[in-house]
Amino acid sequence: MKNKINKIKKLKSKRKLVCLTSYSKPLSKILDKYCDIILVGDSIATAFYGMKNTRSITLQTMINHSVAVGKGVNKSIFVVDMPINTYKNLKQAKKNVKRVFKKTGCDAIKLESNGKNFNIIKKLVKLGIPVMGHIGFTPQYKKKFKPRGTNIKDELKLIKESKEIEKAGAFSLVLECIAEKTAKKITNLIKIPTIGIGSSKYCDGQILVTDDLIGLSGFYPKFVKKYINMEKILSKAFIEYKKDVLKQKFPTKKNTY
Ligand code: KIV
Repeated sequence: MKNKINKIKKLKSKRKLVCLTSYSKPLSKILDKYCDIILVGDSIATAFYGMKNTRSITLQTMINHSVAVGKGVNKSIFVVDMPINTYKNLKQAKKNVKRVFKKTGCDAIKLESNGKNFNIIKKLVKLGIPVMGHIGFTPQYKKKFKPRGTNIKDELKLIKESKEIEKAGAFSLVLECIAEKTAKKITNLIKIPTIGIGSSKYCDGQILVTDDLIGLSGFYPKFVKKYINMEKILSKAFIEYKKDVLKQKFPTKKNTY
């Protein structure tokens, strides 16, 4: 585990890091061939469960999906997102993070920054737990979407936050919806890799919610590139199946005992 994490840290400025989310075994088995990092994101709340935001997902649901994802991951770094209210203080964070590691066999966890929880990261890292930080638009703490780092005051705040997280010992840092100029500055100022989502090409790596990338989530903001329209492709298959069933073309003898 430590080797995997160190390898990722060393890749900063050598090549870009490829990261995606997964919530299931079949998908993580495919992603494992192409990704450096696979994240079981709390985006599962909106992308998979159709919840209004990420704040209602439970730790147990995250663990259940992470157990499935872990079965498909072999070489990538397997990161589990800690849901809101599971790391409010050190005692709670330790208890819940230990539970996640024990049940899922993950390599690392991700915590969203609220601008104050640096000490929790520091203490977890001291216990030998690899932590990925997350700054910028942090959906657990911000109700309304707004790109960050678009003015000097906010830029300085984000730079300070990223330095604190690096100092606390995080091995990487997600930058979500941060203006290009600010994301570039942060990437150049810290030694750990920055993983961008909506934060420009200047980050050390990129992450997207896989369901957005494959066109299955119905959520396509500016920072998403839809590489395939799975909704369309799946609909085609389901229409054919429907026709076959109605016309009694399926099942045939071949499908029958
Ligand atoms: O929950 C999530 O999927 C995330 C993003 C960084 C992709 O946190």
